[in-house]
Amino acid sequence: MLNKISGNILRKKLINDDLFDIINENIRPMNELMAYYRCAIMEVETKFKVLNEEFSLQYDRNPIEGIKTRLKSKEGIVRKLNRKDLPFSLKSIEENIKDVAGVRVICSFPEDIYMLADCLLSQDDIKLIEKKDYIKNPKKSGYRSLHLIIEVPIFLKNEKKRMKVEVQLRTIAMDFWASLEHKLRYKKNINPEEAEIIGKELLECSEISASLDKRMEEIRNRIDKRLE
Ligand code: GTP
Ligand code: MG
Repeated sequence: MLNKISGNILRKKLINDDLFDIINENIRPMNELMAYYRCAIMEVETKFKVLNEEFSLQYDRNPIEGIKTRLKSKEGIVRKLNRKDLPFSLKSIEENIKDVAGVRVICSFPEDIYMLADCLLSQDDIKLIEKKDYIKNPKKSGYRSLHLIIEVPIFLKNEKKRMKVEVQLRTIAMDFWASLEHKLRYKKNINPEEAEIIGKELLECSEISASLDKRMEEIRNRIDKRLE
């Protein structure tokens, strides 16, 4: 029994050491790949900033409240490959890990989310890979956002490379809820019964928050109509 346990520990350790050898051998190409993802983030962020600027000029309002970007850590990438039982190669990362590059766009109103997503997807250099509408179909937790996996070209010295980027579009209220829920979910020392009660509370909060979004949007639309 003891042998099996210590054997397992050793096995885990060996696998980890192997992994880190592979990572070290690939460090340069890996750094290059990460740089390409950073470029893709810049491209997508700029596209949203341009759209915001245009709306600001034409309609005197900014549909975007803020943009947050993040690059998944190398450790996070390796963990995800391992979790999904995928090969440890750069090709595998590019093909399978669709959220290395992340762009989160925060809007005031739900309608602006769809308007911005349509504008982005109608651009001729953007290819839609996957769309998950957690606003129309919220997750069981109460999570709401519109998720897009897109491919955007980046122009290098001698080639054009298509990179995947995960775009999450949310309202301020959806972002507030998701940030809090994320923080609470990773708190330790919560027993299962307590966690279930908290989960129900959070679900209820997400519904209240969604109805507030809707009401505020209706008010905005009413005001806009009067101004027409
Ligand atoms: P991953 O393999 O983990 O990326 O899952 P997936 O491919 O099924 O993607 P999904 O669209 O479900 O979610 C991806 C991202 O959305 C997560 O990394 C979070 O940022 C966010 N997200 C999804 N569900 C929840 C949730 O219940 N709560 C919070 N706070 N965030 C969530
Ligand atoms: Mg993810």
